[in-house]
Amino acid sequence: MNLKLGVNIDHVATLRQARRANYPVPEDAADICLHSGADYIVVHLRRDERHIHKQDVARLCKKFPGKIHLECSISPAMEKAALTYKPFSVCLVPEKPGEITTTGGLRFSAAVRKRLQEMIVRLHKKNILVSLFVSPAKTDIQTAARVGADIVELCTRDYSEAHTLAAQRRELKKLVLATEQARQLGLEVHAGHGLDYQNVQAVARIKGMACMNIGFSILARALFTGLASAVRTMKDLL
Ligand code: PXP
Repeated sequence: MNLKLGVNIDHVATLRQARRANYPVPEDAADICLHSGADYIVVHLRRDERHIHKQDVARLCKKFPGKIHLECSISPAMEKAALTYKPFSVCLVPEKPGEITTTGGLRFSAAVRKRLQEMIVRLHKKNILVSLFVSPAKTDIQTAARVGADIVELCTRDYSEAHTLAAQRRELKKLVLATEQARQLGLEVHAGHGLDYQNVQAVARIKGMACMNIGFSILARALFTGLASAVRTMKDLL
């Protein structure tokens, strides 16, 4: 299987918002990513729009049809945004006020399951594929299939943050088993959160894995691979 890469460009907008400026522009970043091997562009529209704004999602979906993977919560406001801008796919994630980043997979209470079932039907009517961000746990994957998801994105946070090699191996094993189970249930499997240039390959080798969604490590690296040239160009202008 040809493993796909989704690049999360939220932090391009984080930088823009740090200055309340009109650049760097997320569409420009998306353009470079897609011309450099990325298969999808991922953006997380948060309730507080602290990085990516609704207008960014609108512009990205218009400019890159079939390429935008929108991460958002299951709130009615986010559902409305997804139905309006029609990204290629949506990844539904839990969102807690004040969190720095998504901290784990969805918790499937009865109310969440009901909400998901209804929301997924409406998203499907607009031909939007639905992914659920889940822990690599058997019951969560079963639930994802039952509520009608097309994709599960396995949360790799515990794997990425494992402090010992033994703990990392245990977490990797959970990801392997979860991928196998999800494939048997007919779900496409993605993975993401905390993946970097050191830890990505073991996850990429998992049989049945279709797509990895990676943001922070790529943006952090880009800063340093691009910094020398940015300084040189400014010095030339002086
Ligand atoms: N996938 C999901 C569902 C996420 O919430 C995040 C973080 O926004 C990512 C992937 C990307 O994680 P990272 O920025 O750590 O690569």
